[in-house]
Amino acid sequence: MTRVLILGANGQLARNTTRVLLEKADAILTLYLRRASRLPNPDPRRVTVVEGDALDTAALRAAMKNQDVVYANLAGDMARQARTIIDTMHATGLKRLIFVSSMGIYGEVPGEKYRNILDPYRDSAALIEASDLDYTILRPGWFTHQPEGPCRITQKGEPFQGHDISLDSLSALIARIATTPGFHVRCSIGVSNGEKSIAR
Ligand SMILES: NC(=O)c1ccc[n+]([C@@H]2O[C@H](COP(=O)([O-])OP(=O)(O)OC[C@H]3O[C@@H](n4cnc5c(N)ncnc54)[C@H](OP(=O)(O)O)[C@@H]3O)[C@@H](O)[C@H]2O)c1
Repeated sequence: MTRVLILGANGQLARNTTRVLLEKADAILTLYLRRASRLPNPDPRRVTVVEGDALDTAALRAAMKNQDVVYANLAGDMARQARTIIDTMHATGLKRLIFVSSMGIYGEVPGEKYRNILDPYRDSAALIEASDLDYTILRPGWFTHQPEGPCRITQKGEPFQGHDISLDSLSALIARIATTPGFHVRCSIGVSNGEKSIAR
């Protein structure tokens, strides 16, 4: 059983991935979110719901106890969030981080210039890449509600291919990364719907 701490657990993608992790993976989950009363516990045998802000070091430190993987599904002041997460992971001895960012942070999407709207995503990714953590940064395209299919993965330095990503496909990929040691470790990957196998 992999113990996964989900930060920002009330986010659209986090809620979808929680369902997928419970349906498809051998995982025990801690759902960490602000105003926790908003989120009903989907499976009290495998899930703990914890109230906390990603910028609250003490609450984060307590939640990181006895976890294997941190999956950050955040928005807003992401550079400060990333700094707090990295420091707290160091303090608690945790190494494995999955961090949801966005396509476009390296100017890798042909024909698109996202400029400063992506600054928090760019800055947080830079902090994580400069850390010694076993990170996977995900740079997804636009979320859709299409059924699950294969993902097209591009590595940092390659042009992003495609445009959209099905939430179910992305959640399946996150579940696989969270529960497969070494899978896409120290990688920043672009993710869209595609023909290529996710096992690249
Ligand atoms: N939608 C797309 O097509 C798309 C495409 C590429 C990338 N993305 C990015 O992917 C990420 C995940 O997407 P999503 O749809 O799940 O986003 P979302 O629904 O906006 O969820 C983000 C979550 O972050 C939480 N959060 C923000 N600051 C926090 C803090 N200080 N402490 C704790 N939680 C905090 C929010 O909590 P509250 O509920 O408490 O505010 C919210 O639940 C986002 O950054 C999004 O911009 C989205």
